[in-house]
Amino acid sequence: MKKEKEHLMLQEILEQERVIRDIVKKYVDFNSGITYFEEFKHKLRELRKVDRVTFLGCGTSYHAAIYGNYIFEEFVDLPCEVEFADEFLRRKTVIETETMFIFFSQSGETTDIISAAKKAKESKCLIVGITNNINSTLAHLADVAINTLAGKEDALAATKTFSSQLIILALLAVYIGGLNRKPPTISKRAIEEIKVLPEKIKNIFSLQENIKKIAEKYKYIEQLAVLGEKYHFPIALEGGLKIKETSYTHAEGFSAHEFLHGPKALIEKNFPVIFFAPNDSVYQENKKIIKDLQEKEASLILIATKGNKDFKFKDILYIPESLEIFNPILSVIILQFFAYFLALEKRMDMDKPRNLSKFI
Ligand code: BG6
Repeated sequence: MKKEKEHLMLQEILEQERVIRDIVKKYVDFNSGITYFEEFKHKLRELRKVDRVTFLGCGTSYHAAIYGNYIFEEFVDLPCEVEFADEFLRRKTVIETETMFIFFSQSGETTDIISAAKKAKESKCLIVGITNNINSTLAHLADVAINTLAGKEDALAATKTFSSQLIILALLAVYIGGLNRKPPTISKRAIEEIKVLPEKIKNIFSLQENIKKIAEKYKYIEQLAVLGEKYHFPIALEGGLKIKETSYTHAEGFSAHEFLHGPKALIEKNFPVIFFAPNDSVYQENKKIIKDLQEKEASLILIATKGNKDFKFKDILYIPESLEIFNPILSVIILQFFAYFLALEKRMDMDKPRNLSKFI
């Protein structure tokens, strides 16, 4: 791969606008206002019979799986659950035949994912593989394989493959929801918003200098918490993972309200907290937690929606207004940049962190 930037991770973060455009081009027909997944062409009968969905992944792909759970419940109206592939594999499971399994793996070769897919297949359920390698073992095992179209990812930390998993999930939820369940009005708004999403991603790129300055300020921290609720819960987990992987800083992602049940004991003056609080259905509740953290003099980095006037402190990064379901695609890029710049400040090799491989 031709290296245009100093680091692969930065290069791959910046590819996300193009990746999202490619995905949207393949799956959305703006004239008719529908999403269409040809991959299901021969499995439509099975798809229509599905009455629950299980999402599985490892690492970053597991975080995409959580997002999948949430968006499918909202758009497809089916009971959903999400699992770590290794836990699904190693415990006794009760599987109902009309379950659709959706496996995520950027490489399509992660051992636990492959073994879990084989286990699910024994129950004759519909198996979907979402992968960045359409020639992978997962793609061959799955009844329906969907290519995330991110292009080869060479940096260890997944960036463009994560956002591609999210957008594919959003489009897939609109598609399956539209097959026989949700009224088209909901998907219509989503499709209108998808049109402008790549431009909004470009807008996030313009925050690089600000994010770099914040990372500079935080380069000596030893630990931090990353908080988010609902659609930003998986993004908080992903933020924590990205920071750990690239800069070896102990960062943990939490669901914002769950953080109050114990981990909050960590908070003292200057304890660093990254908080995702865009305008969405949980903003008012998040606001109360942020105020509480401010009173306890935590050192906050806030990710909010442009135009937010509730908070005035220094380290606020704004994402453009979007639909609640698409906010994570914008805000995760801020965290990817932060993880990258923090690693850069700490002189870490973020493209090849110690002890890790792209998949195991
Ligand atoms: C781990 C990598 O081993 O595999 C993570 O260190 C990655 O970065 C995880 O998210 C899952 O990989 P894949 O290819 O199954 O998505």
